Amino acid sequence: GDECALPSESRFDCARDRALSREECEERGCCYAPLTQSISSGPPWCFYPPSYPGYSMGPLSPTSRGQAATLTRSVPSYLPREVSTLRLEVMLETENRLHLTLKDPTSPRYEVPLSETHPGSSSEGQEPLYILQFLPSPFGFTVQRRSSGRVLLNTTVAPLLFADQYLQLSTSLPSGLISGLGEHYTPISLDLNWTSITLWNHDVAPHSDLNLYGSHPFYLVQEDDGKAHGVFLLNSNAMEVVLQPTPALTWISTGGVLDLYVFLGPDPQDVVRQYHEVIGFPMMPPYWALGFHLCRWGYTTTNATRDVVHRMRSAGFPLDAQWNDIDYADGRKVFTFDPQRFADLPAMVNEFHREGLKYVLILDPGISSTAPPGSYPPFDEGLQRGVFIRNSTGQLLIGKVWPGLTAFPDFTNPETRSWWEDNIRAFHDRVPFDGLWIDMNEPASFVSGSVEGCPDTDLENPPFVPGIIGRHLNSGTLCMSAQQNLSSHYNVHNLYGLTEASATHSALVKVRRSRPFVLSRSSYPGLGRFSGHWTGDVQSDWDQLRYSVPAVLLFGLYGIPLVGADVCGFGGDTTEELCVRWTQLGAFYPFMRNHNDKPNASQEPFVFSPQAQDAMRRAILLRYSLLPLLYTLFHHAHVSASTVARPLFLEFPSDPNCQTIDRQFLWGDSLLISPVLEQGMTELAAYLPPGIWYSLHNVRNTSRRALQNKGQYLLLPAPLDTINVHLRAGHIIPQQEPALTTGASRTNPFLLTVALSAEGGAWGELFWDDGDSLDTYEKKDFSFIVFSAGQDKVVSEPLMVNRALDGLLLGRVRIFGVLSAPQEVQANGEQVKDIVYHSDTKVSSLTGSCLHVWQPFIIQWI
Ligand code: GLC
Repeated sequence: GDECALPSESRFDCARDRALSREECEERGCCYAPLTQSISSGPPWCFYPPSYPGYSMGPLSPTSRGQAATLTRSVPSYLPREVSTLRLEVMLETENRLHLTLKDPTSPRYEVPLSETHPGSSSEGQEPLYILQFLPSPFGFTVQRRSSGRVLLNTTVAPLLFADQYLQLSTSLPSGLISGLGEHYTPISLDLNWTSITLWNHDVAPHSDLNLYGSHPFYLVQEDDGKAHGVFLLNSNAMEVVLQPTPALTWISTGGVLDLYVFLGPDPQDVVRQYHEVIGFPMMPPYWALGFHLCRWGYTTTNATRDVVHRMRSAGFPLDAQWNDIDYADGRKVFTFDPQRFADLPAMVNEFHREGLKYVLILDPGISSTAPPGSYPPFDEGLQRGVFIRNSTGQLLIGKVWPGLTAFPDFTNPETRSWWEDNIRAFHDRVPFDGLWIDMNEPASFVSGSVEGCPDTDLENPPFVPGIIGRHLNSGTLCMSAQQNLSSHYNVHNLYGLTEASATHSALVKVRRSRPFVLSRSSYPGLGRFSGHWTGDVQSDWDQLRYSVPAVLLFGLYGIPLVGADVCGFGGDTTEELCVRWTQLGAFYPFMRNHNDKPNASQEPFVFSPQAQDAMRRAILLRYSLLPLLYTLFHHAHVSASTVARPLFLEFPSDPNCQTIDRQFLWGDSLLISPVLEQGMTELAAYLPPGIWYSLHNVRNTSRRALQNKGQYLLLPAPLDTINVHLRAGHIIPQQEPALTTGASRTNPFLLTVALSAEGGAWGELFWDDGDSLDTYEKKDFSFIVFSAGQDKVVSEPLMVNRALDGLLLGRVRIFGVLSAPQEVQANGEQVKDIVYHSDTKVSSLTGSCLHVWQPFIIQWI
């Protein structure tokens, strides 16, 4: 009837599980109306009528945490094993955080354990930023922003469904500007044109439309007036999220409960912080982790590994950490090293340490199960201690990874964590590595399910499978019916990398007693507390270079700021030009590692032409000169969940031009990075938000330093040796003379770069500690200095000082925007002699000052 006469963009799919004929569709009580567009790429043909029966809501009653009500469904839907009575709980946790759960009150279901939830930052007694309203029958709710009246969520647009293996919740969206729902190969703004996004951790080289290594059921919506909100569905089952142009969104999960958080912002940066308050703030990385890392698959001996280190050194490239891939391991078995090719691995690592380098190696989770008994303790002891995942009949589940047949540790089992720590300790006693690279932890397996297949059950073949790679949940991973301590693998699959990262992080804390470095491929909310992330097996091509920018920015929103793509690309041969541009961009990834696949041509910086090497050296040295700033940004991420590599819209939420920019980004609030992402380009159309922006370094062919503008795209010169980096007026950044390791650069004189605003002011800060000890912030063992500038002076105010700054000098101060040549400059009352003033660029630069960084100082000029 008329019920079915909905505009096609407002249809909500009633046949998500499979294509239905008219009869089958109508049997579900749904409308059937074919369109010319195919069902796979446009509006559904079978959709819910507005009157589709739903749950009805009983009275709300107060609870200790908020309110609760019972929902009942009297007319069943079409789903098997439907839960017809639900308990709704509403927790008004803070004025900016709303928390709703829908659970089965009679039989408990799997729930994601979330250990880190912070009470949330709230100002006592403040009115909530939201208004929550319920529609009792059929049940639905709306969340409005109190200040603007805007409806942020409206779940009455389609029925709520809750069955054992199919949970569905739809909502309208207040704007089409939605970001998140990773890990995918996408721009920062998602396409709403009937997009289906699947969340299921999988080992696959990044491509559009595929579920990649991580799952982040979180989105952020820009509400087109500068405000933003976020939504997090705390659920770890395989999921599909459908976006449609209405605009609207549908969550479909294959299990667990519905546990929904709404973050009201109102600024997008507030949304990110409120989300991280739930999932945990990111860890503070060791300082060396911010240096340059070099890796490849195919350094097949210790001498080959030594050789690249020495070539890096003789070519004058900074290098902080040398890595080995699976080549080092004996028969690719973790916790061993090859007795021939890597016989002197411990000696090599000790040499690296003497040269000021760190050493990281790969550690895959699969434990070889075929070594003769008694010859491979990690397996023998693991077996004894019951640490491995079992199949549905309680036998060891065997899959296949690099070493051949393997068992998989169950990191949700506390005993596994201690076995893992014991193995890490024993291995570290022999090979004193500094960090661990945990790969293949989706977990990946080269056989689907197990070598014996999987039983034919509802867990392996649920009534609905999201559109994932391989079409089966166990494709390229373990059986869904496999048993882990916490639950079936079906429920906890997406947590594998997170739980492994947590175990690895805490093992490193205990074994090394200094700040851990862990790099994980698989991710889930909360990973950032333990680990960084790289974006996996990216191809060496320009498209992958370009999409690495939104990938890195999105992981910042997900609370994993220590992130980067493999510099120069992993898959396929790189080209010199691509590798130069990638090194320039990579110099601004929060985590910078050049890594390469086994069959490919070499791509270490020293293999390229002298001009290319110069450009790469410049970029890496520029990064090293900026590490005091980068480290300070990580400190803020760690203590207050601010972003490190930041999308422009987070910093300029009311500038409509910034809403979708994802070819440029910021470091913190002060540095704008505009990389070249296309082949053959030596100019770049870059957006500069309103204000004055100073080029951080002299760009060839131009003497213009300051770009004053009202928020517009400008054509910037971008010769092959240059990445455009602009410092925002009003900011002061701490820098240091670069050296070939962070250990050395950390002892060099500091440089302050001051960018005066039009009014002649600027502000900045430095967080500093020994770079390696545990919990320095928590133990108050750090220094923190605030810098400010006025018309004619720069002042430092050390708020907190510890030994870490001992002996460190302020070697140079550069001031951008000094309108006329200073007559005289004084530092703490003493006249400074070495002043250079460039009248064309309005830069004043003082060198040779004997100021100590830890002392308060005032530099004045007239
Ligand atoms: C996976 C990783 C890659 C690594 C390779 C061998 O493909 O993503 O980085 O080099 O395994 O360990």
